[in-house]
Amino acid sequence: MTLEELQAKHEESLKELAAATDDAAREQLRIKYLGRNGLLPAIVKGFKDLPKEDRPAFGKITGQWRQELESALAGTGGVAAAPKGPAFDPSLPGRWTRPGAKSPISRVMEETAAIFARLGFSVEDGPDIENKFNNFTALNTPAHHPSMDPSDTLWLTDDLLLRTQTSPVQIRTMTANKPPVRIITPGRTYRRDTTDATHSANFHQIEGLYVDIKPVSLADLKSTLTYYAHEMMGPRCKAIRFRPHFFPFTEPSVEVDFQCHVCGGKGCRVCKQSGWIEVAGAGLVDPRVYRFVGYDPEKVWGFAFGMGVERIAMIKYGIPDIRWLYENDVSFLNQMA
Ligand code: PHE
Repeated sequence: MTLEELQAKHEESLKELAAATDDAAREQLRIKYLGRNGLLPAIVKGFKDLPKEDRPAFGKITGQWRQELESALAGTGGVAAAPKGPAFDPSLPGRWTRPGAKSPISRVMEETAAIFARLGFSVEDGPDIENKFNNFTALNTPAHHPSMDPSDTLWLTDDLLLRTQTSPVQIRTMTANKPPVRIITPGRTYRRDTTDATHSANFHQIEGLYVDIKPVSLADLKSTLTYYAHEMMGPRCKAIRFRPHFFPFTEPSVEVDFQCHVCGGKGCRVCKQSGWIEVAGAGLVDPRVYRFVGYDPEKVWGFAFGMGVERIAMIKYGIPDIRWLYENDVSFLNQMA
């Protein structure tokens, strides 16, 4: 076939198309030109016998021709015609996606990390499955301590357990790094508790640790946590207080109360009229802990603290029952958006 013959066939088909006024005639044309044994597939098949330099011209004409026929014959042979009119209907209602909300637990952990980042603390992670050394021994917990009893700790083997606190990350971090270290660790912890309004066998803590090669005192701990309390709980929480306590891995040890963020310390229902809310355990790192991680207790100083994430979330957002944090009740979660 020559180029002239091709063009002649093309024009002939357009005349036939103009003459085909009913569907049956148009279907005949579709079969004649576009069908499996139609003219266009035959022409394309013949391309390989054409001289190389003629192929582009043939290809171009045949391609356009096919498009003309296809759009003119759309709707025949069972092929649905494209609907007339604009493809986009602006009067239809939009598809609405309900925005999700972050769990209060994630919020508290992320906000806390952001606040401590401003003080130069980085976030350190640790595994939920710990060994006895990191969770107890190196934290100066004596072998007879009741917290190691199977009625309190979820043991997996003689040596492995689900960590009962985030404090083992102190050990991991100091063992792997020279001082100074300045870290916080938000994470899951586990205790053999029965669930009620304020207890859950799986809960979350945020550990903090600052150890330096220059003196660090309780005053540093107090100023650090005062800043955190104010940033986290809002402008009415202006102070914290220490009460003497005991932890095996800190000396001295304290319990930390935040000034009530609801009444500003005057006394209200939230703080049970005391003006203070218990939030954290803390203290100066015990010299024995430094020995376990290979630090010289004469040359380093530091403080550590640990806080319950659920507890902070509950007082901050006024959540009366810890179970609400785990039940994924949509009417509760929607309020967090
Ligand atoms: N790990 C302690 C607890 O779970 C909290 C704590 C951390 C106390 C760091 C002192 C220093 O109760």
